Amino acid sequence: MRVTVGVCKAAGVLVLCACLVLSAARGARAQPATTQVGNTARGRALLNAFRDSLPQYSGNRLRCTSCHLDEGTRANAMPWLNTAVRYPKYRSRRGAEETLTQRVNECVTRSLAGRALPENGSAMRDILAYLDSLGALPRPAAPDTVKLVGNVRHGGRVYATTCVRCHAVDGRGIAKLAPAVWGARSYSIGAGLSRQTVLATFVRANMPYDKATQLTAQDAADVAAYVLAKPRQDHPGKERDWPKGDPPMDVAYATNGARDAGKLLPPTRAVLPRRVSPIAPATVRTP
Ligand code: HEC
Ligand code: HEC
Repeated sequence: MRVTVGVCKAAGVLVLCACLVLSAARGARAQPATTQVGNTARGRALLNAFRDSLPQYSGNRLRCTSCHLDEGTRANAMPWLNTAVRYPKYRSRRGAEETLTQRVNECVTRSLAGRALPENGSAMRDILAYLDSLGALPRPAAPDTVKLVGNVRHGGRVYATTCVRCHAVDGRGIAKLAPAVWGARSYSIGAGLSRQTVLATFVRANMPYDKATQLTAQDAADVAAYVLAKPRQDHPGKERDWPKGDPPMDVAYATNGARDAGKLLPPTRAVLPRRVSPIAPATVRTP
């Protein structure tokens, strides 16, 4: 696994270099400025090495493919298969229709705790090109959702016996082995994986990485509850999520919409300060 990640990174860097050389060559031949076709290979490289390639837009140590496993093709890990043709679509978290560009930036700002990419920049264009390349493939059936109530104390025991060897006692992950599952290096409280059912379903289907589907649904719910009881980065503006007052039961924070609808609000969770603003413009050149 150590080798796989290493090879992926090396391949990503190679592809990126090749692309830079290619685009330099193209520039020299003065392509018309109207060329809007994204570069699929560079898109894939960015998704595999987001932080290394776009450090000013990343707020943690994850990469897109830390969750969207096998470059977004693994059936049980939120695949990008058939995704591109499903947008724009209505999403209740926004309470409005969302474009694929906006959906990508939702994961940039929440799952990577980062800063939204410029909508018309080359990085976004290349990421969309890669997602487009998977758009015509059929969407596999999603794994059964794990909806059981989690027991934090027992989840701690599951974590110690099943997760610690890769994600570490303090949840910070181990370099070259596995990324952070909580703390400042992991995803923000506004991310989809911060919902217990989403995390438990992902973990049950995909973890431990080398021996997936060993966990019972109850163990997966318990370990998810344990992981989510730990602090992680904030997501400013999260109170404006689900503006129509219909947040799922396992959303970990209070929303204005739920308050206005007179719903029971979840207890306030301790969060870590946000490292990178989701919206502030980067001070460096637009990618
Ligand atoms: C911490 C885990 C995590 C990381 C890291 C992550 N995502 Fe996601 N992503 C999710 C989850 C969870 C969903 C919701 C899946 C669902 O709705 O079934 C999702 C959904 C998506 C979707 C919508 C898929 C669909 O079919 O509707 C896109 C596109 C996407 N992510 C792109 C990205 C990109 C690009 C990155 C990196 C910038 C990224 N994600 C990083 C967890 C993650
Ligand atoms: C053999 C090592 C290994 C074990 C054991 C393991 N994981 Fe992972 N985990 C990984 C790897 C590798 C990734 C994906 C990293 C990548 O490709 O960037 C990952 C990704 C994740 C992610 C999504 C990204 C993140 O950092 O949040 C979560 C959540 C996760 N693991 C939870 C768990 C839980 C809970 C357990 C115990 C039930 C567990 N893992 C056991 C190696 C492991």
